[in-house]
Amino acid sequence: MIEAKGISKSFRQWDGSVFTALSDVSLRIDDGQLAIIAGENGSGKSLLMKILAGLEKPSSGTVTCTQSIGLVFQDADAQILADTVIEDVKFSLRNRRDLNKGEILGKAREALSAVGLEAKENSPSHMLSGGEKRRLAIASVMALDRRTLIFDEPYSNLDYPGVKSVNAVIEKLKADGFTILILTHELEKCLGLADRFMVLSKGKLVFDGKPEEAVQKDLESWGIRNPRNGSDVQSLVWR
Ligand SMILES: Nc1ncnc2c1ncn2[C@@H]1O[C@H](COP(=O)(O)OP(=O)(O)OP(=O)(O)O)[C@@H](O)[C@H]1O
Ligand SMILES: [Mg+2]
Repeated sequence: MIEAKGISKSFRQWDGSVFTALSDVSLRIDDGQLAIIAGENGSGKSLLMKILAGLEKPSSGTVTCTQSIGLVFQDADAQILADTVIEDVKFSLRNRRDLNKGEILGKAREALSAVGLEAKENSPSHMLSGGEKRRLAIASVMALDRRTLIFDEPYSNLDYPGVKSVNAVIEKLKADGFTILILTHELEKCLGLADRFMVLSKGKLVFDGKPEEAVQKDLESWGIRNPRNGSDVQSLVWR
């Protein structure tokens, strides 16, 4: 469970004025839920993610998490740190003093097979396609045994097969009971996966409800394309 109560975050700008990037955001995501937060560029999605994960302190408000959170950042390249695929996943386990070498290798292989990259374990990381890099980033986070995962713009720069391969991993994680939060504005690719849907607009949470209710709203007024186009919400998944 992740619970945020009254989160606000302000920054002092170069001219001395104060910019409020998040304003009184409260939300709760229960264990095993898949929630999506949509919002236009600059609405505060990534900042909220960092605050939920404890990487940034809010100016006010509190965050409570019952599970440790793994983050999959928007820029997969920035999250890939080692030369080969297997070394990259092992790198995320480098601080696990409780595991011996064999156990670290076993865990890394398990994570790679969960994202369908087991055949690429010795490939140079920089040679992977965009979708494979994103799946490698997911594997490195999964190896950490985090049961709550936040995906920041998981579809950016991905073509149709890339989006499908990331969604296949997300659907498997959901079936395995992971708690998942996806930050995106590309609803046509994923809204059908969501149990919950929220909208951030200019740092405020302006909608929190079911995806089916959301598509009845004027999402465009919050800068988000309404993907419905007569189709049912469940079918809004690229798979
Ligand atoms: N450390 C910081 N100092 C000053 N302003 C910041 C800082 N971090 C974020 N902001 C501002 O807060 C706002 C929200 O940023 P954030 O990165 O959360 O947006 P976002 O919704 O993730 O946008 P995008 O869709 O472009 O990724 C932006 O206006 C940004 O400039
Ligand atoms: Mg962002």
